[in-house]
Amino acid sequence: MRILSGMQSSGKPHLGNYLGAMRHHINLQDKNECLYFIADYHSLTTVRDPDILRQNILEIALDYLALGIDPDKAAFFRQSSVPQHTELCWILNCITSMGLIERSHAWKDAKSSNRKDPTVGLFDYPVLMAADILMYKPDKVPVGKDQKQHIEITRDIALKFNSTFGETFKIPEEMIDNLTAVIPGTDGEKMSKSYGNVIEIFADETILKKQVMSIQTDSTPLEEPKNPKTCTVFKIYSLLAEKNEIEDLKNKYLKGGFGYGDAKKLLLTKILETFSPFRKKRIELERNLSYVNDVLNEGAKKARKIAEETLKEVREKVGLE
Ligand code: ADP
Ligand code: TRP
Repeated sequence: MRILSGMQSSGKPHLGNYLGAMRHHINLQDKNECLYFIADYHSLTTVRDPDILRQNILEIALDYLALGIDPDKAAFFRQSSVPQHTELCWILNCITSMGLIERSHAWKDAKSSNRKDPTVGLFDYPVLMAADILMYKPDKVPVGKDQKQHIEITRDIALKFNSTFGETFKIPEEMIDNLTAVIPGTDGEKMSKSYGNVIEIFADETILKKQVMSIQTDSTPLEEPKNPKTCTVFKIYSLLAEKNEIEDLKNKYLKGGFGYGDAKKLLLTKILETFSPFRKKRIELERNLSYVNDVLNEGAKKARKIAEETLKEVREKVGLE
């Protein structure tokens, strides 16, 4: 299967990103043809400082490689190294109705929130994403649930193009794992950079501790039994721990005499243990930035090859060639 996904470079990755998307991307590399990119054109919709953008791009590259993207198995590249994405976006813009994008949650949220003066780029975000996807004709697009609507829009755009200009694009499908579709944040809502409720995977131990300890729990007294199903600490722990460890913690909850503070300590230890090898790898990579750049350049070469073929076909279909 051909797999494609992108990740915006707009902040530090958190457990929601890792469990909902990045871990799946990494697991999929072994048995599939994978293409993963840093969506830096998309990040321009929110970042206005060039140094911050450059820094964010580097950070996400380091994060992904440290977590296990293997350049021998997957093409890993920057979206902006393949300018065909923006060309295809323009062509798709010209067949996409305003109404389709006006119905997008992201656009509605941007308009109704305090964001002053939403830009054309922000409005066009889903069409650029459709271009990212359709370019590579993937079978599946692994993402978290919040991206489902973007893939639906992509399908609509692909169908419209195919019916207007003839069969060209494969109709893509999202790949969403039910267990990890929405990872809760410290307040129990969806974990998101924009809600300030994250647990950052590469934060210093003191910050991590603060974030884990701030997870909201109910007021069941220490001695009483607790419900693991409704507890954010348990939910996150169960996505990182082994079966027997999960069973142990579940029994502690059900038995009572075990406080949420103790559960949080177990979770903190588990997070540190899980990410410790990745932290080490990340430090090594930071010392070897030329390797990181080589990986991105090699990945871009592979991606451009496919992108050139698609654009040739598209330009012919629409009459630009
Ligand atoms: P954020 O909401 O923090 O800005 P992004 O929009 O950059 O995160 O998401 C990057 C990837 O991580 C996407 O595939 C998205 O679906 C996934 N993701 C983000 N937050 C979560 C979450 N809380 N649970 C599951 N997946 C998530
Ligand atoms: N919008 C996605 C996010 O916020 C990032 C993204 C851009 C993407 N282009 C994509 C994801 C194409 C999958 C496929 O996470």
